[in-house]
Amino acid sequence: MRRPVNIAPPKGKLGILTPGMGAVATTFMAGVELVRRGHSKPIGSLTQLGTIRLGKRTEGKSPKIHDFVKLASLNDIVFGGWDVFPDNAYQAAVKAGVLESKDLEKVAKFLAKIKPMKAVFDQNYVKKLNGPHVKKGKNKFDLANQLREDIRAFKKTNKLDRVVIVWCGSTEIFLKAEDVHKTLASFEKGMKENHPSIAPSMLYAYAAIAEGVPFANGAPNLTVDIPAIQEFAHAKNVPIGGKDFKTGQTFMKTVLAPGFKARMLGLDGWFSTNILGNRDGEVLDDPGSFKTKEESKLGALEYILQPKLYPELYGKFTHKVRINYYPPRGDNKEGWDNIDIFGWLGYPMQIKVDFLCRDSILAAPIVLDLALFFDLAQRAGMRGIQEWLSFYFKSPMCAAELYPEHDLFIQLMKLKNTLRWMMGEDLITHLGQEYYD
Ligand SMILES: NC(=O)c1ccc[n+]([C@@H]2O[C@H](COP(=O)([O-])OP(=O)(O)OC[C@H]3O[C@@H](n4cnc5c(N)ncnc54)[C@H](O)[C@@H]3O)[C@@H](O)[C@H]2O)c1
Repeated sequence: MRRPVNIAPPKGKLGILTPGMGAVATTFMAGVELVRRGHSKPIGSLTQLGTIRLGKRTEGKSPKIHDFVKLASLNDIVFGGWDVFPDNAYQAAVKAGVLESKDLEKVAKFLAKIKPMKAVFDQNYVKKLNGPHVKKGKNKFDLANQLREDIRAFKKTNKLDRVVIVWCGSTEIFLKAEDVHKTLASFEKGMKENHPSIAPSMLYAYAAIAEGVPFANGAPNLTVDIPAIQEFAHAKNVPIGGKDFKTGQTFMKTVLAPGFKARMLGLDGWFSTNILGNRDGEVLDDPGSFKTKEESKLGALEYILQPKLYPELYGKFTHKVRINYYPPRGDNKEGWDNIDIFGWLGYPMQIKVDFLCRDSILAAPIVLDLALFFDLAQRAGMRGIQEWLSFYFKSPMCAAELYPEHDLFIQLMKLKNTLRWMMGEDLITHLGQEYYD
């Protein structure tokens, strides 16, 4: 990819559409509005709080990221979305039970005005969900065209300059890329013939790209991870990326595992289990949806620890992931990790992590950052997979001939160096020999 020559400034309003207006999406919308009104700070958001060092350590130049690359201002964001249920964002947020009423009530009127558009949905792809607020169409192609009309209408009604889509919908059943996903032509034919391997999330992605709208995938669904959609994104000059927000347990894994590898400590096994009681947990209680999530969660350790390069340390480790739907906990997930490592002379040691996290509180700032960075990529003319945003994903997409980068610290360095590269600044290598000349 060539370095962007001109990055269009973030003029006018930016629409952020979320297919899925459940716990994550409404916590994100409510949070941005609370921050805009000065009630809170955007904790957890790299685009809002992060800085970036430019030049040498002696120069003391570390601007805020959003000033350095000119990201859209929070005040210019307009929200919208689709859902299988007709609840507005306030009602959906109350049901999700993430935010306390002392916070929600401050933005209740604002959220009540955000009403979902009818979803493209099929229960064959999310077994544990069924709602009435669903589009009807001749075939999948027709449904995708209805989504395109929604995007256009949303843009026109709200007088938007640009739109970004971040998938915050449920986890669909496990699908593998197959022939129908190979080319844009086979995919379009498949939509017209209602091919069963074309899931609803793919129709949103197709519609987004057709409308020149970047698409980030927050679920582990296959969605944009297929050649047909990637071909389309290239042809239309649209950035895409995914998949699955990296929030709780996998976030911890991609922090800890690079540390073990750095110190050449071995791993015998890593057992991860979770209890979760929100609707996401209920959806994941179906084996089809769980399989999609499991695949997404399992990849990180293999790629970070590189068993082929270090067979004596990582050649035989056992990695298990479990998620149990346990209603009393709601959105407050508890994730336990038991890690069996070994050190000098093979002596075993154990590490236990008990992360009492809040799923949507961790995910909301990721939705914001992804929307702003995908908008930046679009304005900079960067198309196709945005590997530099791997930082945000459990199962990052990358070019077919590459392996994905999972190490959080490499991902962060890659993200910041990409921003420096985009703006024509020197990359930071951390060599530092010049300080000792
Ligand atoms: N919260 C986290 O930490 C986290 C981390 C990684 C990924 N995710 C993923 O993000 C997604 C959202 O999570 P959540 O906790 O908000 O779940 P949720 O169940 O509260 O919300 C999902 C919403 O999507 C809607 N939906 C499902 N299919 C749809 C479709 N085809 N079109 C439109 N709407 C549709 C559902 O009706 C629901 O309201 C899930 O796929 C989840 O796996 C969440």
